[in-house]
Amino acid sequence: MSSAAPVALPSTPRFAAPPPLALYVHIPWCLKKCPYCDFNSHEHADRAALPEARYVDALLADLEFALPSIWGRRVGSIFFGGGTPSLFGADAIDRALAGIRARVPVAPDAEVTLEANPGTFEREKFAGFKAAGVNRLSLGVQSFDPRKLRALGRVHDEREAHAAAAAAIAIFGNVNLDLMYALPDQTPAEARADVAAALACGAPHLSFYHLTIELNTLFHRHPPPLPDDDAAAEIEDAIEAALAAAGYQHYETSAFARPGSECRHNLNYWRFGDYLGIGAGAHSKLSFPDRVLRQVRYKQPEQYLAQVERGSPLLEEREVGRGEIGFEFMLNALRLTEGVPVSLFAERTGFPLALLERELGEAERRGLLERDHRRIRPTALGRRFLNDLQALFLPPADRSHATTRSFPVREKAATGFVER
Ligand SMILES: C[S@@+](CC[C@H](N)C(=O)[O-])C[C@H]1O[C@@H](n2cnc3c(N)ncnc32)[C@H](O)[C@@H]1O
Ligand code: SF4
Repeated sequence: MSSAAPVALPSTPRFAAPPPLALYVHIPWCLKKCPYCDFNSHEHADRAALPEARYVDALLADLEFALPSIWGRRVGSIFFGGGTPSLFGADAIDRALAGIRARVPVAPDAEVTLEANPGTFEREKFAGFKAAGVNRLSLGVQSFDPRKLRALGRVHDEREAHAAAAAAIAIFGNVNLDLMYALPDQTPAEARADVAAALACGAPHLSFYHLTIELNTLFHRHPPPLPDDDAAAEIEDAIEAALAAAGYQHYETSAFARPGSECRHNLNYWRFGDYLGIGAGAHSKLSFPDRVLRQVRYKQPEQYLAQVERGSPLLEEREVGRGEIGFEFMLNALRLTEGVPVSLFAERTGFPLALLERELGEAERRGLLERDHRRIRPTALGRRFLNDLQALFLPPADRSHATTRSFPVREKAATGFVER
């Protein structure tokens, strides 16, 4: 019997319509650099000396520079990430949002998120952020255990974490708390206590990130004692069970939400929508009728400011080719518990799903993925071994490195989580 003739695949994408567009705004400073963090965040202990006004001017100039690449498109969500955007005054965020709305069409019901730190000074500004148009707050709590907060080098204590969470919920309602687990010396009982404390706050969205030791961090140079794999797995099961019992859906690898409170901005990343990232080190993915581009802006705040003033904020720009776009799509989509509709692949990559036929078949055979004529989704095994599942979609040239490459499991597609 002869096998089916190979399907002829186009060499460039074809988009019937552009994917939905989100806007990411990076604020690159923090009061103090945390020892585990490899985000593009720079310590700036003297808050009063932050170049806020100059930076907002630069963001708006950066946006103007980018306008030709998003002409006529509407922004469905805005995310101020960092760094610590709550270091900025409410008037700076107000000016940034007003300037964005004056330059691009923003959906009337757009989700507008701002990342905040529970430090006292930031908390005092919450009402001002709301008045500026922010309608969702994402608070970096990390833990409610005072010893863990100290081990993580956080600038706030557990009382400030509780007070900030209560203020955020009273003012915004729509709140996410970021927590990390598998912390230095953390026992499953301590992790359970953290989960209970987070649930008691009543935020409709909770993110739980497995603490990872990243290159170029203090924890990489001086590793703290971490729970072993069995203890970490026990902690994960405890988080999952407690949140399910409290009515939160585990809709993405690290994200849990009450029905209707999922983060729309991050869902756009996971569903391989487009995003324009402005600000120091921000990443973009933008689709055009026959190509997809990735861009990265200059990372060092001072260099970014100087480059924007020169009219060229881009550090890198490259086209995403046919050989890698399937992997990039799956890297995001397979994080979603419910997976994605089969038709989404062609809508968001511009290529037919036949591009991945061999890889999809292999993932099914290994019990990591299931699909029918409507959806593609990871199985429970695929969710547990997500890196292995994602690695099956790597372009052939990268496959030999698959065992040494790890794919971050944090929310931050927002600030470049999946692409740093
Ligand atoms: C940009 S920070 C958010 C807000 C703010 N900068 C803060 O930390 O309060 C994004 C989140 O990434 C998570 N994160 C950062 N580094 C991490 C790491 N090495 N492992 C796991 N999660 C990490 C933390 O939960 C943090 O809240
Ligand atoms: S975790 Fe948050 S506060 Fe700490 S350095 Fe990173 S971005 Fe800044």
